Amino acid sequence: MRMPFPNQSLQRGKPGALLLCALLFYVPILPAADAPPAAAIASAHPLATRAGLETLERGGNAFDAAVTVSAALAVVEPYSSGIGGGGFWLLHRAVDGKQVMVDGREKAPGAAYKRMYLDDKDNVRESASLEGPLAAGIPGLIAGLAHLAEHYGRLPLSQSLEPAVRLAREGFPVNQGYRDMVGWRLKSLQKFPDTARLFLAGNGVPEPGHPIIQEDLGNLLEQVGLKGAGYFYQGPFAKLLVDGVRAGGGIWSLEDLQNYSVVERAPIVTEYRGIRVVSAPPPSSGGIVLTQALEILEHQDLVGVDHITRMHVVIEAMRRAYRDRAVYLGDPDFVTIPTDRLLAPDYLEGLALTIDPKRATPSAELGDTPDLAQRGENTSHFSLIDAEGNRVAGTLSINLPFGAVFVPPGTGVLLNDEMDDFSIKANTPNAYGLVGDQANAVAGNKRPLSSMTPTFVESADRVGILGTPGGSRIISMVLLGVLDFAAGNGPESWVKVRRYHHQYLPDEVQFEPHGLVAYEQEELRKLGHSLKQASYSYGDMHAVMWDRKNNQVFAASDPRGEGKAALLPNK
Ligand code: DON
Repeated sequence: MRMPFPNQSLQRGKPGALLLCALLFYVPILPAADAPPAAAIASAHPLATRAGLETLERGGNAFDAAVTVSAALAVVEPYSSGIGGGGFWLLHRAVDGKQVMVDGREKAPGAAYKRMYLDDKDNVRESASLEGPLAAGIPGLIAGLAHLAEHYGRLPLSQSLEPAVRLAREGFPVNQGYRDMVGWRLKSLQKFPDTARLFLAGNGVPEPGHPIIQEDLGNLLEQVGLKGAGYFYQGPFAKLLVDGVRAGGGIWSLEDLQNYSVVERAPIVTEYRGIRVVSAPPPSSGGIVLTQALEILEHQDLVGVDHITRMHVVIEAMRRAYRDRAVYLGDPDFVTIPTDRLLAPDYLEGLALTIDPKRATPSAELGDTPDLAQRGENTSHFSLIDAEGNRVAGTLSINLPFGAVFVPPGTGVLLNDEMDDFSIKANTPNAYGLVGDQANAVAGNKRPLSSMTPTFVESADRVGILGTPGGSRIISMVLLGVLDFAAGNGPESWVKVRRYHHQYLPDEVQFEPHGLVAYEQEELRKLGHSLKQASYSYGDMHAVMWDRKNNQVFAASDPRGEGKAALLPNK
């Protein structure tokens, strides 16, 4: 595994940033005695939150609980994340203030190549990057969990995985969220009988309360607990995976699994009006886009203006910040990302100066880059803190609901379709209309660019942990959450914030139903914005805050989802 600490800084490019980043990376921010009065977990499923609490009660720390919650979500939200997928875990270790992102993102198989999803006429082969084993990257979840347990946790992996083993074997009851996600991919699920047998009932949408039992997955998790990640990535189980993938038309090899490794990456860190924002570096686009937006907004008056102007300015910041994503961002192990240029204060001040408070800037006036559009919102986020002040923000994904809808026979592993996060053809929209170019082109062993944005916000007296699913809108949702933190509100409020979004192209403000009231829509139109209402509410944010001044802990789950936030007061 590639281990600590990348010596190149992803700190934003203020003078002395390299030195500052090194300091921020290692120096404790909190005095040693300063610890929260309760642990807290907010996740997308009540059973995952409960599983995490169980690990804390057994004496596990936040990192053990993160292993448990991630594994439990893999079982009870098979449509959102899983052992067949990957994720990012942003960590804060209280004892020394170390902050790092564990990158367990999927990697393209070694035999992947740029044109692999195109036919001889250069047309995109329908569904090839979305359905079936060719759509799947090499999973990083198990490697990530083993890494968390080995380097940061206190409990043996087997104990942290135990609640997930139980949930897989005993089953969990279908809820409405499950039914909605099945509805979304029903036709695809029905094409793969092994997958349908696991996740459907009578080849249709299961009734609420129907138990989903995953024996093979339970056995796998148990063996990984006993034998470590090697059980998954090497030996007979790896062979079962590769044989199943290849028999279904995929291109994985044993070497791909054997060579998979997580990477520890330095977070992107910025200061916004006295608040330290710590977020996900590439191969996530989240930290860079979030930082760009916040830096642009730092040059704007957000307090002394009316709320329409404020909203307009936030939209204009989003528009500008999303612009560079498609051109420059990709796997940092494969492409050189001009992070310093993208985060240079004079560049961002220049962008801020182009905002006209009285008029929307047409995106075309900002220059020519490829088209970007919306994506859906499965994937899963959790936030947690333990009684020592260790924190984890984890965002996990298999991409579309139920990923590639393919389970290699006998494995219980539902594969991801994260290969669709690559730009499979330059400037050609993917399933969600998202496009990119060279930096994010498919290549063997490369990680597809992600929008997942697990984030910490830290002021003198408050610490926040947040994130959400939602494809390209993840970053704007986190931005709105950070701004709400900056306005002095707590997690109950961040998760509820009415959501609107601009991603440069298409040149439109997207908003959830009720995201903008009629008056706001009217006023934004007058400023020259095109508006587009999404057909459904999007996002599923789960957040935790520790108010150090009043020594209180708060946790909240998005009312749009079915998640659960819970506190565990110190004994
Ligand atoms: O990594 C990414 O950006 C995507 N695979 C996340 C997908 C997502 O959030 C799906 N739900 N909208």
